Amino acid sequence: TDPVSVITAKRDGGELSAAQIHWVIDAYTRGEVADEQMSALAMAIVFRGLTRAETAAWTDAMVASGGRMDFSRLRRPTVDKHSTGGVGDKITLPLAPLVAACGAAVPQLSGRGLGHTGGTLDKLESIPGWRADLGAEEIHSILADPEIGAVVCAAGSGLAPADRKLYALRDVTGTVESIPLIASSIMSKKIAEGTGALVLDVKVGSGAFMKNLDDARELASTMVDLGADAGVRTVALLTAMDSPLGNTAGNALEVAESLEVLAGGGPADVVELTLTLAREMLAAAGIDGIDPERALRDGRAMDRWRSMIRAQGGDPRAALPTARHHEVVRATESGVLTRLDAMAVGVAAWRLGAGRERQGQAVQAGAGVRWHAKPGETVAAGQPLFTLYSDTPRLFDSALAALADAWSVGDTPPSTPLVFERIG
Ligand code: URA
Repeated sequence: TDPVSVITAKRDGGELSAAQIHWVIDAYTRGEVADEQMSALAMAIVFRGLTRAETAAWTDAMVASGGRMDFSRLRRPTVDKHSTGGVGDKITLPLAPLVAACGAAVPQLSGRGLGHTGGTLDKLESIPGWRADLGAEEIHSILADPEIGAVVCAAGSGLAPADRKLYALRDVTGTVESIPLIASSIMSKKIAEGTGALVLDVKVGSGAFMKNLDDARELASTMVDLGADAGVRTVALLTAMDSPLGNTAGNALEVAESLEVLAGGGPADVVELTLTLAREMLAAAGIDGIDPERALRDGRAMDRWRSMIRAQGGDPRAALPTARHHEVVRATESGVLTRLDAMAVGVAAWRLGAGRERQGQAVQAGAGVRWHAKPGETVAAGQPLFTLYSDTPRLFDSALAALADAWSVGDTPPSTPLVFERIG
């Protein structure tokens, strides 16, 4: 086999054999297939797609490019949640300790933000002392600890290294937007992570990768099938991402909001999605008869949060960092807020310093956006609509520009459900 014959076969609409796929991914991981060859192949896949068999082989080959974690010695069932990425999506923060408090072990290997969507690790790193990088033994012992049972950490470089290399390449070659490539990228990491069950939160809407329900459904069912093939019980929920979740986007801002949820309060949509996903995770893990709502209200989830943060070097009682500067945007009309655009809010938070433009760049812990009204609520002209936070005053202008057309006021409240569909 040689790279050019694999590229031209896919370019011309052919089906690649499992052997060709394993060969090309292995050779790319080892540096024998060049970046320009892999980007040509990725672009051919964007245009031509992959069949179900090709997608399964592609995923297998990415899992086989590295090691696999093994949680079979744990006494509790393992279950993880993965979101395809949204704005204000801090659900992992309250969810992981909540599900651990209900009896599952939650290995939550997470990523950093790139572009307008935030990263769970960036959010948690705003907690003084908290460390994202743990070794396999450390992960195992935190999961085995009956007082903790949840870990949110970086995926080590040994898990699906082919995906790490390929994702960085896709990011700079316009080849992210392919359902089989996204599905195999996400699932190879989750399969290598060794979780027994998985709940996928596939976001749909202006602030998500998938802009419409048909695409989201196809991505979700591709991932559910890949999970089943690999022996991971997988279900997917399609959930709304036209407007952002909760009331804040930003790192420390979202930690603070998650603490409100763990304390039994917090924004209604964040609470609802956290509980819905918790119920799915417990069912997928085979745990029944436990009500996550009680564990949230009676403080058990908060206790888990504190021990989970402490286990990773963080101080759960330390004050969270705040930004040095802020600016307020006021409503210019009165009426019902009919639209609050997730993408615009995400871009504003990113430009204020909550996200990064290049891999490896530092993010600001205190930067971000708070919105003071949610779609369906009434606003009065002159009232604060957004507060913008940043350590860097010169960043406010471009964030304000991103928000200029981020909202509409009208007469009729929008009615979008939070959860559209369940697949799997
Ligand atoms: N997230 C991933 O991990 N991979 C993709 O390809 C897209 C989103």
